[in-house]
Amino acid sequence: MDGSKFDLKKYFIKKHTIIKDEQIFEPIYIPECLVHREKELSLLASYFKSTIYKNSINSGGSVKSGKQLIIQGSVGLGKTVVVKQFGLTLEDYCQNRAEDNIIRISFFHMNCRRQRSWYLIFTSILRHLVPAFPIRGFSADELLTYLIKIVKERNQGLLICLDEIDYLLTESKGQDLLYSLIRHHEGVSLNEQAQISLILITRNPHFQTFLDPALLSSLSNSVIIFEPYTYSQLLDILLQRAQRGLNERGYSDDILKAITSIANKSGDARYAIELLWRSAKVAEQQEAKEIEFEHVRKAQISVFPIKHSIVTDLSPQLKSVLLSLALLLKCDKDRAFVTTKEVREKYNEICIYSQLKPRKQTQFWLYLQELEKQGLVELEVHNTHHNGKSSGRTTLIGISDFPVDELLHLLEVNSSSSHTS
Ligand SMILES: Nc1ncnc2c1ncn2[C@@H]1O[C@H](COP(=O)(O)OP(=O)(O)OP(=O)(O)O)[C@@H](O)[C@H]1O
Ligand SMILES: [Mg+2]
Repeated sequence: MDGSKFDLKKYFIKKHTIIKDEQIFEPIYIPECLVHREKELSLLASYFKSTIYKNSINSGGSVKSGKQLIIQGSVGLGKTVVVKQFGLTLEDYCQNRAEDNIIRISFFHMNCRRQRSWYLIFTSILRHLVPAFPIRGFSADELLTYLIKIVKERNQGLLICLDEIDYLLTESKGQDLLYSLIRHHEGVSLNEQAQISLILITRNPHFQTFLDPALLSSLSNSVIIFEPYTYSQLLDILLQRAQRGLNERGYSDDILKAITSIANKSGDARYAIELLWRSAKVAEQQEAKEIEFEHVRKAQISVFPIKHSIVTDLSPQLKSVLLSLALLLKCDKDRAFVTTKEVREKYNEICIYSQLKPRKQTQFWLYLQELEKQGLVELEVHNTHHNGKSSGRTTLIGISDFPVDELLHLLEVNSSSSHTS
């Protein structure tokens, strides 16, 4: 201890030397120009174009039925940001254009990892449309019926983006509701239609194989695939962020190129942007005037090509399973994998300590599969041998592409909130 008083003011008035505008690096920031996604934006516009016009007066001037589209692509390729920008621009364009025969369209972006049930999705849309709507006491099916009724009465359109849709379809009931949402206009006369269009976003390249055939045929193969960004595309995206968010003297072209080369393995724009931001932070902490390669190297340790929110949004049970695995791997640094039995034992211990009810083997196994689906763990089935003879199979578990210390930190920071449920 040096005995000097902690000076809060010193930190508050400390000026950024490299970062000009921190908001430019926040996840909710949407740049007005999405470089290298013009093609995808124009595909969206042509696909939904017909839905904005009313049917001719001869057909009653009613709205057209909605359309559905799937968007597929791996992490950080701009799926969310492109759809958000499209939806918000469409909503804006369709305001007050009744004289052009254009209907009003309301856009809703729903993250199905956060709003994990149809009930939550429908309540949040209904609350926006009708703030006084009495939500309690309804089932998800009833809420859907109300939603259709309200949209029909208003003679407007609804464009709902169900982002990370996989989280809603884990049970067959989830698929049934999606089916009802898509086919609600069947058997309804043209004048009575409600227009609800859907954009389903998934990272899973095999998404369609999980859909039951009726649902698959309804989605009628309308898919836009987002390809990973190339080196030069990523460089342009980084340059745009750097120009807006950093002081001109705080970075060089060579630094942007170095970050791009690192992110180029996955073509992931989120990773590239976060690495740039963290490098700027490291440089500022070290009171440097501009970002240097060493700052990028340091920053790289703390940026991972996986979203922290995937871990922090896990249920308390899933967090406990993951925590058990992380603790075991941390204790035994020489092993990349541990056995299911070991994780189960640790999990039981953690449940007692954190007042969670330990689940039975079948449910525990489902938790492991869920974590694997979310890309957090790797499961490897091995045949075991005893005295040269096969003696069964065992499953080994490891952590995918995520440093154990970082995972423990994330889980522990969150444990106070999760251990109470
Ligand atoms: N073409 C682009 N121009 C500018 N910024 C972009 C572009 N594409 C992506 N980004 C930025 O990269 C980050 C990741 O984009 P986004 O969240 O849309 O990815 P995603 O494909 O939805 O990823 P995930 O599957 O992980 O949800 C965001 O900060 C976004 O603003
Ligand atoms: Mg997304």
